[in-house]
Amino acid sequence: MYDFTTVHNRRNTSSVKWDMLAEIYQIEVKDDILPMWVADMDFPIAPNIADALIERIQDGVFGYSFPSKGLGESIVKWVKETHHTTISADWLLYESGVIPAVALSLATFTEPGDKVLIQGPVYPPFRNTPENLNRVVVNFSLDEKDGQYSINFDKFEEALSQDIQAFIFCNPHNPGGKVWSKEDVKQITDLCHKYGVLLISDEIHADLVFTPHTHTTALSVAEHTDHIITCMAPTKTFNLAGLQAAYLIVTNEEKRLKLKNQMMRSANMGLTVLGATAMQAAYETGKPWLKELLDTLKENIVYVKDEIETHVPNVRVTEPNGTYLIWIDYRKLGVSEEVMMKTLLEEGKLALEPGTKYGPEGEGFVRMNIACPLDTVKDGVQRFITAVNKLSI
Ligand SMILES: Cc1ncc(COP(=O)(O)O)c(C=O)c1O
Repeated sequence: MYDFTTVHNRRNTSSVKWDMLAEIYQIEVKDDILPMWVADMDFPIAPNIADALIERIQDGVFGYSFPSKGLGESIVKWVKETHHTTISADWLLYESGVIPAVALSLATFTEPGDKVLIQGPVYPPFRNTPENLNRVVVNFSLDEKDGQYSINFDKFEEALSQDIQAFIFCNPHNPGGKVWSKEDVKQITDLCHKYGVLLISDEIHADLVFTPHTHTTALSVAEHTDHIITCMAPTKTFNLAGLQAAYLIVTNEEKRLKLKNQMMRSANMGLTVLGATAMQAAYETGKPWLKELLDTLKENIVYVKDEIETHVPNVRVTEPNGTYLIWIDYRKLGVSEEVMMKTLLEEGKLALEPGTKYGPEGEGFVRMNIACPLDTVKDGVQRFITAVNKLSI
């Protein structure tokens, strides 16, 4: 029903993914590099969202606006129907992004010098954001076996007990694509409560989960919720990152008040009118589009895994439970990251994310973003194979 096959030219659209390659990869870029790195999609947005935006634009007046009651209701309904979690519209606060929401939470509830726990390998801003606020990042490495991540809860508890003020939880996990089990999420919420640790649950990838896996929100399993701040957004799910729209779910009234005061101190105005319009349209009308998107992503993942593992036997492709990010394990090739990245860029003309960007645990991995038409994925995979074959000569 929807078009996930047409290849759109995103060059010269101020796209971070397509137009910032030279800065990011420190290379001279001609139009021959295929970018499969930063986590946005090369698909156009759902037609219903586009219609809502066009209608709002045609109205033509863009004075100051506030998040409408309808927007709150659309979120409450989405979270209920998609994630079986009952929330109240009164618990919502709006932000321009999930990372701004994480930063806001840290700025409100921790002090410079406080310890913030993260689980590496993990999305780089989990490290940079607390560091930029002069918090001390404590890294607790996930266990890894055959590219699959898990949490050693004894060690996790030990880490939490070391005077940690906040834990930033990546649920589902980027870069591993792991959808944490109900038991995992429950233990995390319980342990954070036990040690009085603020749980910042980044659930931006929650909607991008493949059956039979299901996302568990921290709020749905927690006995106590006062210590939890959930950060969500429609931006990954519906490819709206450029419109900057996210929200926090905060059950505790006092915490909400403190967050609002912090927003005021930094003159943070929350959503733009177009971000709000897109978010509401996405949640009210986006479900059929999302269903087809997930089918498309799954097909892409299967292709990448089959093709790479058939043609490059020493490289393992971890099939993600969720997200459109594939974590590729090349440790058996025995080459350094520097050589791998150089070869991918120079021989394959392919820009992937180097694993150590996610922490030292990422050594020997690259991350490939497959949220693009299958033809583009095929092109990327062939570039990968060409490059790796050059490596082993
Ligand atoms: C786990 C995670 N959190 C947050 C973000 C970015 O969110 P935002 O653009 O809303 O700040 C990403 C983007 O890749 C992500 O993977």
